[in-house]
Amino acid sequence: MPLKTTFVKFSVQNQEITNQFIRAIEVSKGFKVVSKGENHQPDLLIIELDKDSETHLDKLNFFLDKTEDTHIFIVSEKSDPEILIKALRIGIKEFFPFPLQPKAIQDALTRFKERQAKIEQKKQGIPGKIFSIVGSKGGVGTTTIAVNLATTIASKQKKPSIGLLDMNIIFGEIPIFLDMSPKHHWGDITKNIERLDAFFLSNILSEHPTGIHILSSPRYLDGQPSPTPPIMETLLELMKKKYDYIIIDLGQSMNDTALKILKMSELVNIVAIQSLPCLSNTNRLIKSMIEFGFVERENINIVLNRYFKKGVIPLDSVEKGIGEKVTWVIPNDYSTTMSAINSGKPLHDVSPRSKIVKSFDDYVEKFLPDSRKKEKKGWLF
Ligand SMILES: Nc1ncnc2c1ncn2[C@@H]1O[C@H](COP(=O)(O)OP(=O)(O)O)[C@@H](O)[C@H]1O
Ligand SMILES: [Mg+2]
Repeated sequence: MPLKTTFVKFSVQNQEITNQFIRAIEVSKGFKVVSKGENHQPDLLIIELDKDSETHLDKLNFFLDKTEDTHIFIVSEKSDPEILIKALRIGIKEFFPFPLQPKAIQDALTRFKERQAKIEQKKQGIPGKIFSIVGSKGGVGTTTIAVNLATTIASKQKKPSIGLLDMNIIFGEIPIFLDMSPKHHWGDITKNIERLDAFFLSNILSEHPTGIHILSSPRYLDGQPSPTPPIMETLLELMKKKYDYIIIDLGQSMNDTALKILKMSELVNIVAIQSLPCLSNTNRLIKSMIEFGFVERENINIVLNRYFKKGVIPLDSVEKGIGEKVTWVIPNDYSTTMSAINSGKPLHDVSPRSKIVKSFDDYVEKFLPDSRKKEKKGWLF
């Protein structure tokens, strides 16, 4: 990340001191001295302490309370412990007693830059993670899992920071699962890709009462351009800046755009059930994803949905059939999943004590431990 220029201003009587700082600044990267007449808010103020140091420090305290982004270095003839302690207490970053040491100035400037870089990094936030859900067949529970994974993570966050994206054109059902009628869908983005920025995106997304933000899919083929891989990349990069997690219901699409999404995903959940065609599909899906380099094996989780112990194909045979271990087993619970869908509510709201809800909770705790992260990124608008 390129570092911001630090604007430095002086309030120093002694020209030799100013010159010493300027010499150090000239050999340090990323600083620019603001001249007296220039009206530019400084990031760093270098101030010579008045003879009445107590009063001067009180004034600086008042100033620092009001400005978050300006930092102060003090140069001072006096350096009694009381003055030093007071200076530290009010948040003075560096204190230089006379005579000035060029190395001390240089080190202080380096420390300042390092601190600034850290603050800048925090402001930018850690990019969000993309979790894709892929069905190995229609009707295996892909949407149920995408929706309830999102709402389960949301239930663990103080301020949910989750985007839920539906990639099923015409067949997108996320709004039904959550009883919503979004005004927009991602077709509005593909139509206006040149307008896509954080503000535009925030108008397209719809917020659910759980705090998750939904980006639904077009319900009709009414001429909007398809989401090409570059469009998807732009959209997801933007969403990663806003959200901690982006959950994507990919359905069964395996076109170029879906492959791009897989490539950008931190985790791909392939959903299977205890049926032969499904296991055979899962097998081929995993092989294709890995062999063609779309996903690394360690980024794939196999989800066995609608599991029941007495199923025709037991769990160990499922694993043998796929050739992989199942990561997440979701119990069969038709009545809870159906009543959740029909009432447009998350499973958690319909039957909080059910085994299926516990299964979602356990998965989030076990495999997505950092989803408890309470910190939310600053939104650009
Ligand atoms: N764990 C489960 N137990 C029982 N039925 C389930 C389970 N998960 C999903 N279903 C049911 O499967 C059907 C299809 O679910 P859905 O999430 O729409 O699948 P997909 O998105 O793969 O088409 C729904 O009727 C849903 O109630
Ligand atoms: Mg679906």
